[in-house]
Amino acid sequence: MDSVEDDRPAVVAPEVYMTDLVLPSQTNYYRTMFGGDAMAIMDKTAAIAALRFCRQPIVTASTERIDFREPIHEAEIIEARARVIYAGRSSLVVRVHVYGENPMVGDLRLCTTGYFCMVAIDPEGQPIPLKNGLLLDDEQAREEWHTGEEIHDTRASRRDRR
Ligand SMILES: CC(C)(COP(=O)(O)OP(=O)(O)OC[C@H]1O[C@@H](n2cnc3c(N)ncnc32)[C@H](O)[C@@H]1OP(=O)(O)O)[C@@H](O)C(=O)NCCC(=O)NCCS
Repeated sequence: MDSVEDDRPAVVAPEVYMTDLVLPSQTNYYRTMFGGDAMAIMDKTAAIAALRFCRQPIVTASTERIDFREPIHEAEIIEARARVIYAGRSSLVVRVHVYGENPMVGDLRLCTTGYFCMVAIDPEGQPIPLKNGLLLDDEQAREEWHTGEEIHDTRASRRDRR
């Protein structure tokens, strides 16, 4: 299986990296990074991952399951890594991992994980079909597809119950 319905060409989703430095203005009294600042970097990295995959206009429709596992400290390097893991009819699920790195040591700690749902839209802001399906080219992509599918289907059933 490489995607849902599929007469569409299946393409590989690239992993996208965004790196930044944590400034004092992005930290709290404990000199660790605000969750909202981390989420802004995650959202932007997810959007670039979605755009590089589909080459269509997209919007963020929801954030799902963001876990702040470990703090990222002031003056550390923050690196977000994002990849499309599921392609539905008009929506995508993007997985984002955020690492913290002490620049004097060079250790990489997985600090935050999250999933973002993006929807392809037309000029009127209405959902449109994605041009591409997702090619599952390795074991990790096949495993992550199931997570993305579960997120898509759970959200869809939540909406149906409203
Ligand atoms: C996202 C948006 C285009 C969806 O429009 P809609 O008419 O509700 O969409 P539909 O019910 O027709 O669903 C279309 C697809 O989007 C998905 N979707 C819709 N709302 C969603 C949500 N809140 N979360 C995740 N996926 C969503 C559906 O599952 C469906 O996916 P599929 O085609 O792959 O099966 C619309 O809600 C919107 O414009 N929201 C604002 C987006 C925005 O401004 N983001 C930035 C926030 S600052």
